[in-house]
Amino acid sequence: MKNSIKHVAIIMDGNGRWATDKKHPRVWGHIRGSAKVSEIVEEASNLGVKALTLYAFSTENWSRPQLEVKTLFLLLKKFLKKETTRIIKNNINFKVIGDYSALPNDTKELIVNLENQTKDFEGLKLRFAFNYGGRKEIVDAVNRVLIEKKSEITEADFNNYLYSPECGDVDLLIRTGGDHRISNFLLWQNAYAELYFTDIKWPDFSPQNLREILKIFEGVDRRFGNIHREIDLKTSQTKALHNLESISESIHVQ
Ligand code: FPP
Repeated sequence: MKNSIKHVAIIMDGNGRWATDKKHPRVWGHIRGSAKVSEIVEEASNLGVKALTLYAFSTENWSRPQLEVKTLFLLLKKFLKKETTRIIKNNINFKVIGDYSALPNDTKELIVNLENQTKDFEGLKLRFAFNYGGRKEIVDAVNRVLIEKKSEITEADFNNYLYSPECGDVDLLIRTGGDHRISNFLLWQNAYAELYFTDIKWPDFSPQNLREILKIFEGVDRRFGNIHREIDLKTSQTKALHNLESISESIHVQ
């Protein structure tokens, strides 16, 4: 196994098309999709994933029909009510990232309570990106740096100004539903992520699919812009030096 999985992020796409294909209203896809969220969270936790960030509502999703937006709000509330006990039992550390101030008060209360109850838990870090935008997260971070009047910061420092620094970079980004886009999701954190796109629509995505993708990921050679990690560096450098010497000997500068 070459890679251990720390942070997995998922763009849960294809709910609407899944429902339309079955001649149901689009919101039906979101309802089935939210049931899938529980299954996938449980599987990720069992597989030892350290952090899981799920894209539940983007800053661009406001332009959808009112009914759809309201349904997504309701599903979040329902999820929180239904899953709180299980989240606590499984030692899951829960947080919503994004600006959820527009949610109804009772839902906001549920979020704050669950965040407080689980803030010291050391199991899976579960993050729901709700009314989230990647560019906004970066701009918010820059503004926080400016407020602190810092004149220069490093990349590592900058991470600390993001919404959930404890999750770190994304190792694996999965997008269901057939499109090949990042859609303003975790733009900073996805810099070196492995990208996995599948045609499976979110309501059909299964724990087995997650297991298979993680298996593929474990074998990927991640070079981070460097050379092949498995090469014996000392041997290859000695060889390279030798080659360089013989090359320079054969070059005659006029
Ligand atoms: C994209 O499908 C999905 C979303 C915009 C929302 C994802 C939300 C859920 C999976 C349910 C919410 C659950 C909780 C617990 C908050 P789409 O509608 O864009 O699908 P389409 O591309 O087929 O139209």
